[in-house]
Amino acid sequence: MKDIPTRDRIILALDVETTEAARELVLKTESHLGFYKVGLQLFMAGWFETVDWLVDRGHKVMLDLKFFDIPETVKLAVAAIRDRGVSLATIHGNDPIIRAALEEKGSLRLLAVTVLTSFGEDDLRAMGMTQSIEDLVTFRARRALELGCDGVVSSGMEAARLRKELGEKLLIVTPGIRPGANVLDGADDQTRIMTAKRAIAGGADHVVVGRPISRAKDPIAVIAAMQREIEGVTG
Ligand code: C5P
Repeated sequence: MKDIPTRDRIILALDVETTEAARELVLKTESHLGFYKVGLQLFMAGWFETVDWLVDRGHKVMLDLKFFDIPETVKLAVAAIRDRGVSLATIHGNDPIIRAALEEKGSLRLLAVTVLTSFGEDDLRAMGMTQSIEDLVTFRARRALELGCDGVVSSGMEAARLRKELGEKLLIVTPGIRPGANVLDGADDQTRIMTAKRAIAGGADHVVVGRPISRAKDPIAVIAAMQREIEGVTG
């Protein structure tokens, strides 16, 4: 297991409408957290404003724009974000897209999205795919690692197999996290969900958590409970 400080294990997804709301959520939680995720919604609201602000405050940033386009466009997009102090960025894609992204990544760590955690087996069947999700995630993760990606985004349900088959070096980042008590009734639009504790115990390096913290009456209480669970596993 990698030596990662507890405050960096949870990456809080700042899925809010405005840069002001994002700052409010960071100010409310930064006593306990040091890693934040900026996704499409917030990026559209203020472009790099929140990213730069977070980096200036000394926080780590995962820029989750899931680039997916022709290789040249993805390459130029990666070049546009690589010198902004971002720690992790996400891409989708086949070999040429991933190779193009890697050419421009510099010191940015690139994560390949395997299969979105909102997808279930039925969604794959509807797209004409016959593999199981676990096999597809493992296949894509192995390929991403071979090509030179730093890690992958996968659900906690696949983390253990990825860690076992692909080794310690791969960075595994896991969304679809729900607190233990509401795993069944608080899934929102996520399908392949699990608790932070099980995801980390299974081999994930970081968990991405959004609504269970940002929509909680007491976000700090939810964070502290998750961190206690995580420490129980990481020692
Ligand atoms: O609110 P919730 O905890 O479900 O948020 C999960 C976050 O993780 C969202 O920002 C979503 O975009 C992101 N994500 C995901 N599945 C992936 C990659 C990212 O849910 N495969």
